[in-house]
Amino acid sequence: MSDKIIIFDTTLRDGEQCPGASMNIREKMEVARQLARLNVDVIEAGFPVVSDGDFEAVRQIATEVKGPIIAGLARCTAKDIDAAGAAVKPAGERGRIHVFLATSKIHRDFKLKKAREEILRLAVDGVKRARTLARDVEFSPEDGSRTEPEFLARIVKAAIEAGAATINIPDTVGYAVPEQYAALITYLRDNVSNIDDAVLSVHCHNDLGMAVANSLAAVNAGARQVEGTINGIGERAGNAALEEVVMALRTRSDFFKDLHTTVEIREIVKTSRLVSRMSGLMVARSKAVVGENAFAHSSGIHQDGILKKRETYEIMDPREIGWGDTELPLTKHSGRHALVKRLEHLGFTLSEAETDGVFLRFKEIGDRKKFVYDDDLAVLVDDSMLGSQESYVLDYLHVASGTTTVPTATVRLKKGNKELQDSSPGNGAVDAAMKAIDRILKKRGHLIEYTVQAVTQGKDALGEVTIKVDFGDGELLTGKGASTDVIEASARAYLNAVNRALLAGRLRKTRSAGATQSKKTTTP
Ligand code: KIV
Ligand code: ZN
Repeated sequence: MSDKIIIFDTTLRDGEQCPGASMNIREKMEVARQLARLNVDVIEAGFPVVSDGDFEAVRQIATEVKGPIIAGLARCTAKDIDAAGAAVKPAGERGRIHVFLATSKIHRDFKLKKAREEILRLAVDGVKRARTLARDVEFSPEDGSRTEPEFLARIVKAAIEAGAATINIPDTVGYAVPEQYAALITYLRDNVSNIDDAVLSVHCHNDLGMAVANSLAAVNAGARQVEGTINGIGERAGNAALEEVVMALRTRSDFFKDLHTTVEIREIVKTSRLVSRMSGLMVARSKAVVGENAFAHSSGIHQDGILKKRETYEIMDPREIGWGDTELPLTKHSGRHALVKRLEHLGFTLSEAETDGVFLRFKEIGDRKKFVYDDDLAVLVDDSMLGSQESYVLDYLHVASGTTTVPTATVRLKKGNKELQDSSPGNGAVDAAMKAIDRILKKRGHLIEYTVQAVTQGKDALGEVTIKVDFGDGELLTGKGASTDVIEASARAYLNAVNRALLAGRLRKTRSAGATQSKKTTTP
């Protein structure tokens, strides 16, 4: 009999805690839908008490995304637990409240300033309260891997007695090494009398580059749920990369005997790309499984071997995980119907208005480049996601620059029926375009990060610009824009960040007008 390893995806919660990765609700919905297609077992959709946006995202995902369990995170406080309970409620029986409380000595003494007995009481009360709101409750002793094993065993036993069906042992600061972490899992299995009444889960961070190795060692020791994120995104060095965990279990089934996941591996590459696009976090070319070079063989000896027998140098079949799933590219002659079909194939669910926006941009791009590839389309979809009546759209851009002229940009924006235009000199063409937008909007954004990447190949490739901007409130906002012209792509990216800032402000206003949720930002 093969045991199932439950795959718990926290891309939208722990992954989103990565600075600059924050996604708006629309983007989170797209990611959640794709995670459902990937067939993960649990989607941790957010930390509802943190902000109105988080609450709303979890609630919407719990309402609309079918299939996986939808979890919301909460500290062991009534306010947190009630918010998480309300947010996951629309998922019904598939709603999970994930409560956590730090248990290690360093966290008890310095962060919480609470003694062991109080921590124990708070954990039990938290789990009990969560159980009044959801049937499915998970408990995490934060910094579990650095907690005294005897105390950890006591708190785990008490949490199970209080009603937790899943016990997750986080390696919060990525301190564990595989043998030691596996030994901790074995210790809990041997020393907690009711351990079989709960699923043992692991949650590893990658500070020493061992998150996946630690997760797999724990699985070998009896853990049956693995938590992680797509592309391994997350706070600091990130979380265990789920695609690596899944493919390691599958590829080395000779070693991880009688274990399986029910992840739809054909969706892996698509999911990785979507998460990268929505979070603005690029995947390293050499990243295992999903990096651009993961299956690229450049040396002659390897190429020769591959041609003779693929398995000489490839331990996984790239086609099985969705590499090379692209179809014939579209051209400017392709119609709306063909575009809609291709967008559906790529997994995007767009409204009529959004499809109109993408179609318009598709025609513009089609005039400038011969083929419009799937990756080109994906970046056009990003552009259209904020295409509401209330957002600013780039209508016209003219830039004068050269070796002896002061770079100057003139920009015209449209918002609904309104047209706004201004010009500005700048320290380079990109800077001038951004400053012209600042002048129109009477805003001042500080560019913190700027990257440009060719989306597809060839001289006419779309350039995609990703920027991180601070509009003065200390929060980093990501903006993305694409064009065959890099300056235009930069202006679009900047405008995208502006629109996100406006949307976030609007959302805060709307919810604080009638909502009871806290607006304060608190992260574990
Ligand atoms: O890393 C951690 O400890 C966490 C918990 C909230 C599970 O993310
Ligand atoms: Zn974590």
